[in-house]
Amino acid sequence: VRDWNGVEQVVLRSPRGDYARVSLHGGQVVSWRNDRGEELLFTSSKAVFKPPKAMRGGIPICFPQFGNCGTLERHGFARNRIWALDEEHPPLNHNDNSSKASVDLILKPSEDDLKCWPHCFEFLLRVSLSKNGGLSLVSRVRNVNGKPFSFSFAYHTYLSVSDISEVRIEGLETLDYLDNLIQRKRFTEQGDAITFESEVDRVYVSSPNVIAVLDHEKKRTVVIRKEGLPDIVVWNPWEKKSKTMVDFGDEEYKQMLCVDAAAAERPITLKPGEEWTGKLELSEVPSTNCSGH
Ligand code: BG6
Repeated sequence: VRDWNGVEQVVLRSPRGDYARVSLHGGQVVSWRNDRGEELLFTSSKAVFKPPKAMRGGIPICFPQFGNCGTLERHGFARNRIWALDEEHPPLNHNDNSSKASVDLILKPSEDDLKCWPHCFEFLLRVSLSKNGGLSLVSRVRNVNGKPFSFSFAYHTYLSVSDISEVRIEGLETLDYLDNLIQRKRFTEQGDAITFESEVDRVYVSSPNVIAVLDHEKKRTVVIRKEGLPDIVVWNPWEKKSKTMVDFGDEEYKQMLCVDAAAAERPITLKPGEEWTGKLELSEVPSTNCSGH
């Protein structure tokens, strides 16, 4: 655990040389680098690394809501809170004690959280680097309340890309999506891979559990695998919206793309004592291996 500007972050290193950093602020993965030292997640040059708001980049966790609804903070409060290291489930140590490849964090609601969202929960987050370089996030939410509650969720994943106009997503073709730019109206995607030439803010519903983001210029594909998360949210603010975001550079929309594994369309309901698990696994493959996509 290291102190970065007053906020603790956990550094993970895999035996292969991959690297990730997880902030206790939000349980947010703020960096993921491959064994060649290349950063795979986007971070804005204007990002603010201090609470109370989530840093612009990495993988903020949206819970107990994805979006903007009612009196709850946008995308929920989990990304804005300080999480604790979960000592009960010690991280998996590799032979070298200084290089832990996994960390467990926990979030429980504060009294103030309970005032705006009156449901007792326990949220366990495990972030790991696998032996072959993949980054995995496993979230477990347990209802420790006397009554059922419902929530929505997203791993708001800011991928770093060379140039948004050179990027495509494969795996969402022919799916239905809700367009957040047109009052969540429902459309059906055409048969082609998705490319970008203007602002996009969509929830692809009931998507396959494996999709791929291909970056032609970087000759890199990031494969996204998910479990327990039916939807994929795709977001790029493009030129006009970028200018309205204080912690985001005017031109930075060209270097990022959010592709979020999410439970956004339909909330998840947990009865007392029940637990939900949502998994995300990101892995990077050179494009030459992906000619079949
Ligand atoms: C997206 C939303 O998922 O997140 C956008 O659909 C929103 O509408 C974006 O602007 C970023 O949200 P925030 O709260 O991190 O600025």
